[in-house]
Amino acid sequence: MKWRLLAINGATVVLFVAASTLCGMCLQTPTQRSSDALTIFDSDPNHIWNRTYTCLLVRQSTEGKEYGADTLDPLLWDNTQHLLTGDSHRRALACLDEFLRMHGERAVEDPSKRAILQRDLWAVFDWTARNDDLPEQRRELESRLAVAIHRLALTPEQIRALPDTYEAAVAAQQFASAYDPRNPGKPFLPPDLLRPDGPWVSLSAYSGEPTALQHFYFSGRSRFLVFMKLPGGRDATLAYIERLRSSAQPPLLGGFLNLALPQFPVGTHVALVRQLIVVDSTGKLVPTKLTESVQLRVYHAITPGTRYMNYINGPSSHDQDLFEFRMSRPELFAGRNGGLVAVGPSQTEFATFNTHGMDGLDPAHPSEGQNVALKRCGGCHSDSGIHSVQSRMRWMGPSPGAGARSNHSDPIAWETHVTIALKAQQPEFKLLRRLWQNMPDWLDRFPNRSGDRR
Ligand code: HEC
Repeated sequence: MKWRLLAINGATVVLFVAASTLCGMCLQTPTQRSSDALTIFDSDPNHIWNRTYTCLLVRQSTEGKEYGADTLDPLLWDNTQHLLTGDSHRRALACLDEFLRMHGERAVEDPSKRAILQRDLWAVFDWTARNDDLPEQRRELESRLAVAIHRLALTPEQIRALPDTYEAAVAAQQFASAYDPRNPGKPFLPPDLLRPDGPWVSLSAYSGEPTALQHFYFSGRSRFLVFMKLPGGRDATLAYIERLRSSAQPPLLGGFLNLALPQFPVGTHVALVRQLIVVDSTGKLVPTKLTESVQLRVYHAITPGTRYMNYINGPSSHDQDLFEFRMSRPELFAGRNGGLVAVGPSQTEFATFNTHGMDGLDPAHPSEGQNVALKRCGGCHSDSGIHSVQSRMRWMGPSPGAGARSNHSDPIAWETHVTIALKAQQPEFKLLRRLWQNMPDWLDRFPNRSGDRR
């Protein structure tokens, strides 16, 4: 069983219990996929990496349509039975066994590809480790994935040499560099987003936990960085943030939005950047500059809203223009635009972040199927101005621990540090380390560790 925090339409945030065993009609994976289409890691579709990826990450609907060939996150939910039962389980074990037996990790040297396959297998590992129904089947997958994840690990030097893909995307000049109010649907990628002294201010709660905590719980394998930019530039943004933080107004009053909160002006931008964390060859968590996604919201209007939280069709629900860039594996490996691709206005996807945990490909749950990606944003960000900035709850207030905030001048380094520290404490990561310890044939690659237990 999992407790989930779900924001729902109306004034409430409820705790939802997703029972992991409810899925009685989950997809039985049909026929074996002929592995002739997927050429992500090598031009040969039969390459062991392409086959391993397909086996674990690509899924078929009951109509035989394939999904997951290049999605950011695996199409695996809390209630998913795929990979855990039936043919898909047997096939996953066989694929992993083959990868391990023939030392598949040696078949590709490109460090970016190694980082990405490790990332993808690690995501599957965390999914298996998060729940505890079908324990035997989970253990069978976990023990194999753990070995593969570490065999794919890069050395600290290789990780340092990985590209800064945001920089590469900006240098390629394929995307507009600024929001264009006359063409508000046109995706733009701000060149100065990550510049420490630029107009975008990195927002950190400077607490012991990541500021984007919900995204952390969705994937502790990335750092998530939140930014804000007011039309007046860095000084105006800092002044506004200070006004908010020193204001006596709390973000919520009695479970409703506090409309007395100081508001920011029309033209304000906010951004959320996701960058990959990898496990290095010594078993350590290390940040990279491989950017997995950039989400941007621009306020072209600020319509006074109501007190209701997450009022999806409320008065301010059309105030923002929404943008997202995502890492595409083929683009990244081809060295095009830092691997980033703009999400189109009608592009559909299966939701994976903050869902009810129902399997999106399960015909018993048609409402969990594909939706327009950029239309989903409004489900959590439709309130008026600052009230739609979800992370405000964390960075607005005083930091726990007096003076903590002023002691840190580098919010990105801080967010990275607390993300890695929290991930290291997660049961999934402790299990991974325990599995590494218990594998004598490759234990020599690890320093001695005391026995972590789940
Ligand atoms: C299911 C709810 C949900 C959906 C859907 C969603 N977000 Fe968010 N978003 C959040 C939460 C919660 C945060 C705060 C960070 C955290 O706690 O992880 C956030 C943070 C952000 C931020 C940083 C500023 C802020 O609001 O704190 C941006 C920018 C952002 N989201 C953009 C988008 C875009 C663009 C989309 C659609 C493509 C989107 N989001 C879809 C929940 C959601």
